[in-house]
Amino acid sequence: MPDELYPVPAEWARSARYDAAGYEKLYGRSLADPGSFWLEQAKRIDWIKRPEIAGDWSFDEADFHIEWFADGKLNVAANCIDRHLAGRGDQVAIIWEPDDPSEDARRFTYRELHAEVCRFANVLKSQGVKRGDRVTIYLPMIPEAAFAVLACARIGAIHSVVFGGFSPEALAGRITDCDSAVVVTADEGRRGGKRVPLKANVDAAADRAPALKTVIVVKATGGEVAMQNGRDVWYHDAAAGVAADCPVEAMNAEDPLFILYTSGSTGKPKGVLHSSGGYLLWASLTHELCFDYRPGDVWWCAADIGWVTGHSYILYGPLANGATTLMYEGLPNWPDASRIWQVVDRHRVHTVFTAPTALRALMKDGDAFVARTSRKSLKLLGTVGEPINPEAWRWYHEVVGEGRCPIIDTWWQTETGGAMIAPLPGATDLKPGSATKPMPGVDPQLVDEKGTVLHGATEGNLIITRSWPGQMRTVWGDHARFFQTYFTTYPGNYFTGDGARRDEDGYWWITGRVDDVINVSGHRMGTAEVESALVLHPMVAEAAVVGMPHEVKGQGIYAYVTLNAGVTADDALRAELVKWVRSEIGPIATPDAVQFAPGLPKTRSGKIMRRILRKIAEGDVSSLGDTSTLADPAVVDDLVANRVG
Ligand code: WT7
Repeated sequence: MPDELYPVPAEWARSARYDAAGYEKLYGRSLADPGSFWLEQAKRIDWIKRPEIAGDWSFDEADFHIEWFADGKLNVAANCIDRHLAGRGDQVAIIWEPDDPSEDARRFTYRELHAEVCRFANVLKSQGVKRGDRVTIYLPMIPEAAFAVLACARIGAIHSVVFGGFSPEALAGRITDCDSAVVVTADEGRRGGKRVPLKANVDAAADRAPALKTVIVVKATGGEVAMQNGRDVWYHDAAAGVAADCPVEAMNAEDPLFILYTSGSTGKPKGVLHSSGGYLLWASLTHELCFDYRPGDVWWCAADIGWVTGHSYILYGPLANGATTLMYEGLPNWPDASRIWQVVDRHRVHTVFTAPTALRALMKDGDAFVARTSRKSLKLLGTVGEPINPEAWRWYHEVVGEGRCPIIDTWWQTETGGAMIAPLPGATDLKPGSATKPMPGVDPQLVDEKGTVLHGATEGNLIITRSWPGQMRTVWGDHARFFQTYFTTYPGNYFTGDGARRDEDGYWWITGRVDDVINVSGHRMGTAEVESALVLHPMVAEAAVVGMPHEVKGQGIYAYVTLNAGVTADDALRAELVKWVRSEIGPIATPDAVQFAPGLPKTRSGKIMRRILRKIAEGDVSSLGDTSTLADPAVVDDLVANRVG
């Protein structure tokens, strides 16, 4: 049966920057002559010193290095703000929509954004922050989050944004890992009408983060907080004494712009480090290509700034392109499942970019919540974060977009900086569930377990054979881990950790992670991290965590727990363990199922056979495969008999 095909609407083919032939030509040139292609693309950036070299890289161990535009100098914040002042200083740069729909939205023109960011930068400087210093940003989705991020970029400080849903423990680990002396936070955050005690979390984290010297506190809700003398400063007090102008720091293209922690298959979260020049180019180029942004359009990426999607597509990409970008404080389904579409109507949003998990949650509440809104302003719909099931894709296309808006399914990763495989609205016919075609310069390939490159329509592990400007440059503080994690599985190539299929039309279908990483509601969770949290509990002897299918989250967290001898396994303990993981990592790591297991399936050398655990968690117990190599095959019967769910 041929795939369902949604051709490019005639209107888009006519009006977009690239049609099908245009895309093919662009892509072909990018691979055939990368040097001149990328120097030409680099013109979209306002350089203090224009680069004369494009990519200089090698994925081979002997000569491992990745550099782009290394002789160029720029300031990222100036690219996102200052260069727009002459032409569109009075255009709205950021629309801020509050959690509570009865409150008014706020708007900041590029000129106002300039003043706010300069002021924030001067506050950071007054607190001793210098070029190259790390600043941890633990804020809710308030305008100050944008100001703080851009203020760091302005003065050359490296920001590390930590999602407000992470626990004090997780925050402390991230502050310590990158040795940041300054944390920017708020009294409280708000989401779905609930308060998040951010400042109290920082206080708790501070006990375990000796590097921390200064906490800058934004008054967001007015909730009561304890201020520690000599360490804590109110942002509004500090801001009252500084100028609303701040010169930009001239940065080298390869200077770090930010660190963002993300989970891997082993160990603690890695500090993914992105550069200034290459990253900005990638965020801005992919935002323009995938979404064909035009002046006057209202762009809404409904992510949180705590994730890479927020970095690249709420702030850096759209602002570099002079867009009006919407920042939303709340949740997609609060006060009810109409909220997203009401925000679309209120601000006449042109493009919405969200995650499949949000769509599945809204879909469950029924079409009436969508139907009661107009959505006439919508031209384009985007998705990111996990594979989108064709059912959710069709719902997005038919019910939300009323059949007229192309769906831009973007595959990428924290490590890639921006979209890698995605359609162009005027160029690419769509197939529900496929991220379609690669971006310029991106050469994806499929390999088998041994690393043999596979050709034609087939399935395998997804590698990228060459560097692209938005590629991460290192793991903060551990360059060896960077090389080891991404370049040793398939030597000479970047390994994504994903599996994929390429069909007979050359379309790419991401099938999901092939490593021990699971994707919960579009957020990445290392199974090893949840396991370490569980074994910290005094009653737990051992734990193994795998993903399980989940109707809304995509994947849920399924934990097998072996208790210490003499401990009684009951529902109270199960609930306690769930709570325990939430407080160790954060609500996003909440286990969906906890199964008490007297023993785990291990090989004679003691290795846990996760394949078997995955099958049981999926409920697919008829095809467990060969269990004869297990040290004690009988444990499998117990696991099957006591499956949760
Ligand atoms: C992993 C990266 C990309 C920013 C948000 C998540 C999965 C991401 C898609 C997509 C299928 C996708 C992959 C990837 N993923 N987008 N459109 N289709 N899978 O970033 O937390 O770094 O997670 O998310 O498995 O490896 P992240």
